[in-house]
Amino acid sequence: MNAPHPITQAAADAAYIPGFGNHVSTEAVPGALPIGRNSPQRPPYGLYTEQLSGTAFTAPRHENRRSWLYRMRPTAEHPPFTPYGRAAWFGGSDDTAPLAPNRLRWDPLAAPAPGTDLIDGMTTMLTNRPPAHLEGGGVHFYAANRDMTDRVFFDADGELLFIPQAGRLELLTELGRIEVAPGQIALIPRGVRFRALLPDGEARGYIAENHGSLFRLPDLGLIGANGLANPRDFETPIAWFEDRDDPTEVIQKFGGRLWLTELDHSPLDVVAWHGNLAPWRYDLARFNTIGTVSFDHPDPSIFTLLTSPSDVPGRANADFVVFPPRWMVAEDTFRPPWFHRNVMSEAMGLIDGAYDAKAEGFQPGGLSLHNLMAGHGPDLASWRGASEAELKPHKIAGTMAFMIESCWPYRPTAHALETAQLDYDDVWADFPKARLPG
Ligand SMILES: [Fe+2]
Repeated sequence: MNAPHPITQAAADAAYIPGFGNHVSTEAVPGALPIGRNSPQRPPYGLYTEQLSGTAFTAPRHENRRSWLYRMRPTAEHPPFTPYGRAAWFGGSDDTAPLAPNRLRWDPLAAPAPGTDLIDGMTTMLTNRPPAHLEGGGVHFYAANRDMTDRVFFDADGELLFIPQAGRLELLTELGRIEVAPGQIALIPRGVRFRALLPDGEARGYIAENHGSLFRLPDLGLIGANGLANPRDFETPIAWFEDRDDPTEVIQKFGGRLWLTELDHSPLDVVAWHGNLAPWRYDLARFNTIGTVSFDHPDPSIFTLLTSPSDVPGRANADFVVFPPRWMVAEDTFRPPWFHRNVMSEAMGLIDGAYDAKAEGFQPGGLSLHNLMAGHGPDLASWRGASEAELKPHKIAGTMAFMIESCWPYRPTAHALETAQLDYDDVWADFPKARLPG
């Protein structure tokens, strides 16, 4: 039996409720949660009742997500929002510019200036579909070295999937506290306010933003009732709040832009809540990876951890796919990813180690883009090595790559275009021509 994953041990003292999409009831003060009704005439302790919906009221029951919040002051109490301009590289794209079909790759984000918190340290790299379409999303880098102490953030444009690459994040949210480390992921639902602390002093990673239908676990079909990401391994925090009457900036992303207002108190004041719309975290080491035991390898959809369906069955608005450590045992098979041209568009990141289709140039913290119909696959060195390898059982160890795959082509931001590697196409140069008989 494997030893517990060290990341799981480190966070074992935090309080979480296991399960994905469960109907949770939790209170940070005994008696704060109304029983038997959602909106009593006089909630306990004079708390204010608020429903936070993640789906339309009339969504089918199995997709319907909402929570009831019991808080010290109503969210509605705030001055107007005004534009916020300090997060220079975070926001939407210019959807009118021509979108070149080129393959692109990026090195990790440069270190941020001292005093950069998570909001100002976010850099949008890729977007698809305007947020108002309620489809598509974005891929962002973050790099920060300062705690968010006197301000909170929320995203009205979509849910946020945090994929740390270095340094832990402590996410203090309206619905509870989550600690998330490299090797784990965390999700903050649309609209949920939070501030991020950096227990290690600095942190960097990726954020996948999803404007569309909420991330859910994929159907398993013939795999059966178990496998891939199992529901019990998702962890939702218990209720927690802060009673702080200090000036607090509230910054939201709405319509691809940032907006600011200021309160005289912290809005992280939800004393109790119940429902099935909530933040969660997940340890990628618990992903049950499935692959071939004969020949060829399955399509990479076998690595899907979360999916956001589109309106077309089987065609994802966004899939979050991971490539974890795993045994490779296929006989008479080219084992790395084959050359391919897909109708889906692929944004790839690397949390740790190396990716088995790229010998160099794709670093942990880096990013690559292969939009629809872009020919790609192993680079020359990876192709040669895998073509000539003796096919013994081999473990791909010490690596964790991921992909945010979407049916909508990604548009690099102006900043992304300016910072892309200049020579990415060269990894597919100089392949030898096939030798036909005669
Ligand atoms: Fe691909």
